[in-house]
Amino acid sequence: MDNVAKLEIDGKSYSLPIAVGSEKERGIDISTLRQSTGCITLDESYGNTGSCRSNITFIDGEKGILRYRGIPIEVLAEQSSFVETAWLLIYGRLPNRKELKRFSDLLTQNEMLHEDLKFHFEGFPAHAHPMAILSAMINATSCFVPGVLDAYDPAKFELQAARLLSKVRTIAAFAFRKSRGLPIVYPKPAFKYTANFLHMMFSDPYEEYDLKPEVVRALDMIFLLHADHEQNCSTSTVRMIASSQANIFACAAGGVCALWGPLHGGANQAVIEMLEDIHRSGDDGSKFIVAAKDKKSGRKLMGFGHRVYKNYDPRAKIIKEQCDKMLRLLKIDDPLLDIAKKLEEAALHDSYFVERKLYPNVDFYSGIIMRAIGIPLEMFTVIFAIGRMPGWIANYKEVMDQVGGRISRPRQIYMGPTEQPYVQIDQRIKK
Ligand code: ACO
Repeated sequence: MDNVAKLEIDGKSYSLPIAVGSEKERGIDISTLRQSTGCITLDESYGNTGSCRSNITFIDGEKGILRYRGIPIEVLAEQSSFVETAWLLIYGRLPNRKELKRFSDLLTQNEMLHEDLKFHFEGFPAHAHPMAILSAMINATSCFVPGVLDAYDPAKFELQAARLLSKVRTIAAFAFRKSRGLPIVYPKPAFKYTANFLHMMFSDPYEEYDLKPEVVRALDMIFLLHADHEQNCSTSTVRMIASSQANIFACAAGGVCALWGPLHGGANQAVIEMLEDIHRSGDDGSKFIVAAKDKKSGRKLMGFGHRVYKNYDPRAKIIKEQCDKMLRLLKIDDPLLDIAKKLEEAALHDSYFVERKLYPNVDFYSGIIMRAIGIPLEMFTVIFAIGRMPGWIANYKEVMDQVGGRISRPRQIYMGPTEQPYVQIDQRIKK
């Protein structure tokens, strides 16, 4: 196969090299295009643009494959833990016992927030969305982290990464307690990452939360399944901010904001809201499916469709199984699960969804598990953010470790007015 692309502009021919990835993906390297032709490429929403070369995560959207550092997501979901998978993503290989223990210890040592940060939580109104608090508090926490503004130093990176990954769950749990007017519960060093988060969320000063191993495992798996997903909107945002050499906390705070929207991480909340609406209206899903196909209705089947997956999202498959298991175990009969299954069944046999290759994505069933665990709706996207943190950290590291990396700065095709005079205020058209 010839790894050169030929391009003709105004009768002149140009050769462009084709970069080939380890999974044989091909990308036309246009890095010298503007210099040699005067043209740029235009790819609104980046559906055809590779923004970087990365070693972290591989997705084959047509086949429904997802691998972190080469290891299939199904294998990690069954055999690994969130913290081990975080290390894998960040450092590129599975840790040995000593490395994993060291990282776990670092997470434990950094689980507390500076006591003064408690006052910052006081400033938010009770109804504040926890994603706003999370993003603001990640940034605020950076003010209390020594050396965070120093130039990136690979030797100090592990500590900063552990601080961020550990403190994010403390911030998330404190934000939840604050929003409910509940007393803050401090982390307990004896607990591992996910158990500690559940403890901070649900224990009370007078009563410890009953940590059921199956619940801890289910939430740990949700974190793990969200841990990375190559160049999605929030990760691209993190890389974009990192390219300006901003610190790791600033990058993560930006990632949280990008994740918040309903077309990205906010979809897990939107799915439950949609299912609740359907349930309240007495529909079994069949009327909603009709509305979701009608562009004028303003409705979409939330939790369906994906920019990259044109097949069943492999994470959705795992979560669906886990969802059935959890509800059985906790003896919960959730009518929303029945509606979700009906919607899925109907969509998978409906030509609108089939032709557009719209399948359930990770958000379609994850909310039902989180509801069963007792996580409130407004915290769903926060859970996603905690889970995605290792991916953001790994991508941050990849950007910072790049020799000769440049700031990310896309171009545009300007469509506005050409040069025009400044009109004095009295001479402007009155409306
Ligand atoms: N319901 C109904 N129709 C849909 C849906 C949906 N969920 N998703 C896509 N379509 C339709 C579009 O209207 C479009 O139809 P058209 O060709 O007739 O114009 C076609 O399918 C292609 O969709 P695009 O909008 O081009 O897909 P895009 O790649 O831009 O968007 C996205 C992907 C944002 C995920 C979209 O499918 C969507 O909005 N889904 C619902 C929200 C959601 O679940 N988001 C979570 C994504 S996963 C994540 O971020 C973790």
